Amino acid sequence: MRVKPFRLAPSLLAADFVRLAAEIEKVRRADYLHLDVMDGHFVPNITFGPPLLRRVWEVSPLPLDVHLMIDTPSRYVDAFLDAGADILTLHVEADTPERLRAALAAIRARGRQPALTLRPSTPLSAVAPFVSLADMLLVLTVEPGFGGQGLLPGSLERVRAARSLLDALHPDCELEVDGGVTLDNAADLLGAGANILVAGSAVFGADDVPARVSAFQQLARG
Ligand code: DX5
Ligand code: ZN
Repeated sequence: MRVKPFRLAPSLLAADFVRLAAEIEKVRRADYLHLDVMDGHFVPNITFGPPLLRRVWEVSPLPLDVHLMIDTPSRYVDAFLDAGADILTLHVEADTPERLRAALAAIRARGRQPALTLRPSTPLSAVAPFVSLADMLLVLTVEPGFGGQGLLPGSLERVRAARSLLDALHPDCELEVDGGVTLDNAADLLGAGANILVAGSAVFGADDVPARVSAFQQLARG
């Protein structure tokens, strides 16, 4: 199996929404910009949709890593691709197996990266039938809906198990961890098999955001 490069994906959820362009500029040396789309149904919170994503795409030097926490995400695949999503992540619980398969294939057909995720309470086996259609699996290490939470207990084991599942079924698939990531637990998460780390409050909550981005990158270089 090839070693996968480390990537940092700051989550815009923790940024100052009144100053988005300036906030995005502060993380320009990261690898992706992570965007959390929430509909108030699949998760209790509501964030933003394609129009805001489009404006972010216009100013972002980073590819957009879009995490859809919405019901029936297959309905919105084209809208989010049109708005500029580079990676589009769908929850396995949020759609039927047929629509999920078709949506992942449609994302690839448009030259973007299909990705899958699941709630912390959903068994990893739920993604097994679909991982061959995805470039990335996102392991949520908090209950989805809000930033600033701590890593759930058992998260390292969950990441290890996810990496084993991918190694068995789709070794090229990348593994992203999202929720409660900090400088203190990043090395352990990478050691457990993650290669992409999402960090919201740990990046945008820092006094010196660009320095925090570098600190994550240096830590990953080990
Ligand atoms: C949670 C979101 C996360 C969130 C992470 O529902 O999926 O992407 O922004 O925020 P932190 O890093 O603060 O836990
Ligand atoms: Zn997310």
